[in-house]
Amino acid sequence: MANQGYHIGMIGLGVMGRNLLGNMADHGFSVAGYDKDPQKVAALSDEAKGKTVYAASKIEDFVNSLEKPRIIMMLVPAGGPVDSVIAEVFPLMFSGDILIDGGNSHFTDTELRAKKLAVKKVMFLGTGVSGGEAGARHGPSIMPGGPKQAYERVRHIFEAVAAKVDDKPCVTYIGPGASGHYVKMVHNGIEYALLQLIAETYDLMKRGLGFTDDQLGETYRCWNEGQLNSFLIEITAEIFKKIDEKTAKPLIDEVLDVARQKGTGTWTSEDAMKLNIPVPNINTAVEMRNISCYRWLRQTESHLLGGPAMEYKGDANQLAAAIGEALCAAMVISYSQGFALLAEASRQYNYNLNLADIAGIWRGGCIIRSSILEKIMAAYRDEPRLLHLLANRQIAQGLSTMQESLRLTAKTAAELGIPVPGLMAAIAYFDSLRSPWLPANLIAAQRDFFGSHTYERIDEKGTFHTEWSKERGQDARDTKKEA
Ligand code: 6PG
Repeated sequence: MANQGYHIGMIGLGVMGRNLLGNMADHGFSVAGYDKDPQKVAALSDEAKGKTVYAASKIEDFVNSLEKPRIIMMLVPAGGPVDSVIAEVFPLMFSGDILIDGGNSHFTDTELRAKKLAVKKVMFLGTGVSGGEAGARHGPSIMPGGPKQAYERVRHIFEAVAAKVDDKPCVTYIGPGASGHYVKMVHNGIEYALLQLIAETYDLMKRGLGFTDDQLGETYRCWNEGQLNSFLIEITAEIFKKIDEKTAKPLIDEVLDVARQKGTGTWTSEDAMKLNIPVPNINTAVEMRNISCYRWLRQTESHLLGGPAMEYKGDANQLAAAIGEALCAAMVISYSQGFALLAEASRQYNYNLNLADIAGIWRGGCIIRSSILEKIMAAYRDEPRLLHLLANRQIAQGLSTMQESLRLTAKTAAELGIPVPGLMAAIAYFDSLRSPWLPANLIAAQRDFFGSHTYERIDEKGTFHTEWSKERGQDARDTKKEA
């Protein structure tokens, strides 16, 4: 029989739930865990020895073991499982209790669930948790959104278990409603973009420059010591060292070239489209995962479609250095797209996001942590009303210095016939933003030509329509103002 008064309960004792619970217990919190699967409950009991941990196999025992008003967190797969947990636990909860969803739920689901729970005055915190298994155990980045008073009640727990950077916990109150899950979704969208870019540099150095796995591992290791310092570059270097037990060859060469997804990157692209915010690096990353899954077509086309020989004739080490700088520039550009989306979502959904704080809590614990985020945090801290990250003088100067490498890398990859759509999307985004003029006037004219959709003029306010075609018996200069 359990004691009464455990500080916090966890529903879902999979890898993430158990590790986060262990992290809480390590920080002196008494914790209770519940799962429908008896094996997972037993696993928690085994790990819990010597700590104040209660592993419950009945939901009623679990709920009754908690201090009132209760704090219950769930870490279960997004979608149906979250609704099943709510259906099971909600009837046992009361006014003032807090339910935290720590999974990657879609933010629109979180909004609906918060409303449903509010009927009984149960407060719902849609909380992004990043860092995978190791992060959960030793310090994740935590993005809680929902009622501020609920956050204040769990704050001491989250601050204790979160990763620390400069002694500051990688957790902050994100904002109302589903903002926590929204921010986590965009985090994952950026994650997709960065993974795609790193994969492109790997491809270019492997197939274009003929680098061996050892050379690749060493290159990423060196990059991680410079301006590219980040979790994803660090693990990339590690990956090239891993030897397959089965074949005794580098494991990376035994891994199928197919990247699947649980969907958070696609959700980011979908919402960016809805809000009209360009996030080409995130979109490209999603599309490239889809193309990777088109493996049968790629196998067939590799015999049908012609292209250049993938052999670089110049100085490989010199190009590798440029590739590193290009990656850094493209990473900054990818972050900038994610932050631009957050800024617009903050306005449209009334999230009142603090972008400097978000950059701050992404510096540790999470998958996209990197030293680039230090500069991003400083940019938003210096100019809280910054309209776009690339409008910050320091960031713009840094990119202006690196753009030549990005251009050279994209150009060389095109010449070699190696696909680098992420790097190309980055340079195209950069060039689009630095273009005071874009050929969109032609698109506007074409739309007006074939569909009378009207256009705007540079010398006069209002919308205009022209009968463009002389062949239709009209004069092209015959312009009239719309009502
Ligand atoms: C994190 C990760 C985590 C997970 C993604 C993978 O922040 O810890 O983002 O949430 O790795 O869900 O997502 P895909 O399966 O969509 O690549």
